[in-house]
Order: sequence, then C-alpha cells, then structure tokens
Amino acid sequence: MSAAVAFDAFTGQASPARAERRRHLKLVVAELARRQPPKDLHPKQRQAFTSEATEILYGGAAGGGKSHLFRRAAIQWCKWIPNLQVYLFRREFGDLFKNHMESATGFPVMLAEEIARGECKIVDKEIRWKNGAKIHLCHCQHEKDVYGYQGAEIHVLLIDELTQWTAKMYRFLRGRVRLGGLKVPAWLKGLFPRILNGANPGGIGHNWVKAAFVDPVAESETWQTPKAEGGMRRQFIRALLEDNPTMAENDPTYEDRLEGLGDAQLVRAMRKGDWDIVAGGFFDDVWSRDRHVLAPFPIPHSWRIDRSFDWGSSKPFSVGWWAESDGTRVEVAPGRFRTFPRGSLLRIAEWYGWNGTPDVGLKMRSSDVAEGIKGVEALLKVRGPRGEILPARVQPGPADSAIYDVDDTESTSIADTMRKHGVTWVPADKSPGSRKNGWERLRELLAEAALDVPESPGLWVFSHCAQFIRTVPVLPRDEKKPDDVNTSAEDHIGDETRYRVLALTRVARRSTFSPV
Ligand SMILES: Nc1ncnc2c1ncn2[C@@H]1O[C@H](COP(=O)(O)OP(=O)(O)OP(=O)(O)O)[C@@H](O)[C@H]1O
Ligand SMILES: [Mg+2]
Repeated sequence: MSAAVAFDAFTGQASPARAERRRHLKLVVAELARRQPPKDLHPKQRQAFTSEATEILYGGAAGGGKSHLFRRAAIQWCKWIPNLQVYLFRREFGDLFKNHMESATGFPVMLAEEIARGECKIVDKEIRWKNGAKIHLCHCQHEKDVYGYQGAEIHVLLIDELTQWTAKMYRFLRGRVRLGGLKVPAWLKGLFPRILNGANPGGIGHNWVKAAFVDPVAESETWQTPKAEGGMRRQFIRALLEDNPTMAENDPTYEDRLEGLGDAQLVRAMRKGDWDIVAGGFFDDVWSRDRHVLAPFPIPHSWRIDRSFDWGSSKPFSVGWWAESDGTRVEVAPGRFRTFPRGSLLRIAEWYGWNGTPDVGLKMRSSDVAEGIKGVEALLKVRGPRGEILPARVQPGPADSAIYDVDDTESTSIADTMRKHGVTWVPADKSPGSRKNGWERLRELLAEAALDVPESPGLWVFSHCAQFIRTVPVLPRDEKKPDDVNTSAEDHIGDETRYRVLALTRVARRSTFSPV
C-alpha cells in the first residue's frame, strides 16, 4: 500500500487518452509480429524487438545476446523506416569496433548480402542505406564527450553496456532522442523514437541502472515514467546465457568460464545476472532477494505492528511499518504455513518521501507527512483469531531523534507537530556506537533470514516495499570505516530500518511483560 502511494507519482492515473494509446499500441505490436521481425532472433530478443516499450533495458548476464540484438534491430528498422537515424554507442571505441565490426557476426558479415545488392554501404563509422537511413557507430570515452552529440537528432538510441555509463551521460543522450521531421510508417507509429540498452550488473552505473530499470516494477512489465524521468514507456527484459541458445551450440564451455571468474560477486553478476550485488556493498554477502523478499500475507493480530521514521525534506523521508513475530504460525499462502522465530521483523509497508529521482525529497510539511501516515495506517489490516480481516493497531516506533529538536523560527519540533496530528514516536537510539551496533544487528537478522530454517529472529521484506529493495541491499561500505555505511549514499531507508532493529530488544523485552 505504501508502494501504491510511492508508485502513484510514477505511473499517474489512467486516462481515456492513455487507454486509446494503449489500444493503438496493441494493434501496432500485432502488426509488427505479422510483418516478421528478423527470423534469427531468439525469443527474448524477439520480445525486445517487438515490445511496445520505448525505453528498454535488455540483458543482465554475459552472453545473453545483447549486442547481436542491437545489430539485427538496427538493420531491420533501417530497412523499414527511410531516413531513420540510429545511434549505437559504447564507451570505448576499441570495444565498439571489436564487438560490432570485427566479430564473427559483426555488421560487415550480417550485411554481406545487402552490401552486395547495393542496399547499403559501410563508410568509416557509418552504415549508410539507400533509403536515407543511417547507423552511426559512436563512443564517449570521457563524460564530456556526450556533448559532442548536442546537435544530433537521434531516432533510435542503442547503448551497449549501459552500466559503464553515468546517469548524467545517459540523461543527456536521452534528451537528444526525438522524431523531429521523421515520417514513421503508420504501422510502426508509437514505437519510435526508441531506446534499447544492454547491460550486465556491475560497473560504475550499476546503482542508477538498477534503480531506473530493474527495481521499479516486475521484469518484463512496461510502465510510463514521469516527465522528470524522460516520460517514455520503460521495461526491463532479463536475458541470461540460457536465453541465447547459440552460445550453448557454438561454445558449450563458455558457461564454465563464467563460473570460473573467481570472485563470487562477479560470478553472481555475469553468470546469474544478479543485480543485488555491488562490489564493496555493505550487505552483499547477506542479502538474497529470493530469501528476503516475501509475497504479502495478512499478519496475525497477536503480532506487534509499529513504524519507524527517518525525517527528510529536501532529502527523502522514510516511514517503514514493521510486524514483529510473537512466534505464532502464519498462513503465508492458501494452505501454506510458516513460523517466523519470535522477535523476527517483517517490513509490511513503507512510504518513501522521494520525487522519483534517487535521493531527492518531497519537501513536505511534517503535518502533511503525519496525515499521510494515518492514511496508510487506515488501510493496514491483520488476520483476526477466526481468520477474519481486522484493522491493524499500529504502535509508535522509533524515529530519528532530530525530530525532537525545536526549530528556532517556529518554537515547535517536528515531533510536536506530528503529535498534534495524532502520530507519535519514541526517540531512536543514537547513542555512541549505535550506528555500528545497528548495522551489525541488521546484518545478523538478514543472515538468519537467509538460512533454510531460521531459528533466531530474522528480517524479511514484503515485495511491495520496492524502495527498501532498491536502496538497502546496495548500500555501500564507508571506505574509511568498514563497519559503517557510507553516509553519502541514499541511506534513509537503511537508517529508518536500523532504528527499528535497535529497538528490537527493548520492544521484545517490554512485550514479554505487557503484551500488546
Ligand atoms: N539470435 C542469434 N542468432 C545467432 N547468433 C546469435 C544470436 N544471438 C546471439 N548470437 C551470438 O551469440 C554470441 C553472444 O551474443 P552477444 O555478443 O550478442 O551477447 P552479449 O549479451 O552482447 O554478450 P556480452 O555480455 O559478452 O556483451 C555472439 O557470437 C552472437 O553473435
Ligand atoms: Mg555484448
């Protein structure tokens, strides 16, 4: 439900015009499939080629067929659309040339017949088509090199190895993507201009690529981004080595070479396409999306439910709702039961006060935040003793103690204002050593939850808590203080979780005497 609050800003409301556009797109995609995309595409590549999305990230693991798809797609679109300008980018010119020109299935080989028939020719770094279409092979070794494309009108942007790019470079190039005067055939209208990116996890751009494409919605789902994010229809299509049968045929031992990369993180990234890794990340070794993320289920009424809070204004604020297990068995799916050790924490809802751009807040007044919290809590439900659904009773939990500081100009604190609106907190433990203890405790809880059969308390997250899943598993370590998180990262949900984790022993002990 907090996810709904957060996602509304992303998805907007469905409108009649949008419904009409969607109907039109369905027809376009059906027609595209009928006109036959390149025959040799494997199913995942075909999915990307025929997708109704206009800003796609394809890939996720080495050898999934990204670069091959780029070449095939670029060629086919140039054949279909006269005067189309396709820009294919990599950071390094050497990589660009080796991969797309000199490889066994590079452009010269793929285009041999077309070149022989005089339909196109390769001139230096351009592939020129008789119908006026062009494929530009480009690179941007330095960040500032993107400004060399200031004057370009890009109809199709293809970026290979997107995780080697900074968000700033990507945003700039995306800003050059527009149709201008190009006439797109009616049966392809709505699919252009178009961006297709390929990437493996890791690299300098890992976090922003993950946040932009992998985390916001389920894989293969298409969603409309807000204007601040480019306003295109975005999609992540996961393609692993298994999705490229050519590799299994031609080079069956390639898989072993990926397994043999040595570094466990690198194997997870390149072989498994696991995005929940970051070299040097604080939770790399304890986080497992498969184990920690749970499909939501009703919480038993006997569990304690409370919330924790990290205040932010120009930076995001974060509210997390937690259910603390009292050890009672719970039905996690129809007919499927599970016991979470007493004292385990489940993050059941969240409200992250960001504007859709990582680490940028909403500048909301504390009174409005309090009202929003009550709004979410009115929707929280628990399962009663006879299986009936009841409203949840939410207890005050820990909040960043800064909310108790009195503002000079207003002579009242954020905590006072929120209390007037019916939302109270208890001060979080911010005593010396509490950061280190809190992170360590969180690591222990995550490590326990990742076991086959946890026996001590663990920590789990409901799958709609998308912003926890986006920001916490990738929190970087502070290079100077290895037992702390780097505070310049987007750590607000991490902090809010740490406050709750530190309160755990106090809350658990108290609840032994006066159960809530
Ligand atoms: N549909 C296809 N038909 C024939 N060969 C293909 C197809 N898709 C991929 N290949 C071949 O499989 C090999 C690996 O594909 P490709 O280079 O596109 O993968 P990649 O995901 O870009 O890999 P990397 O992560 O190493 O960049 C290449 O030799 C490529 O030509
Ligand atoms: Mg490639």
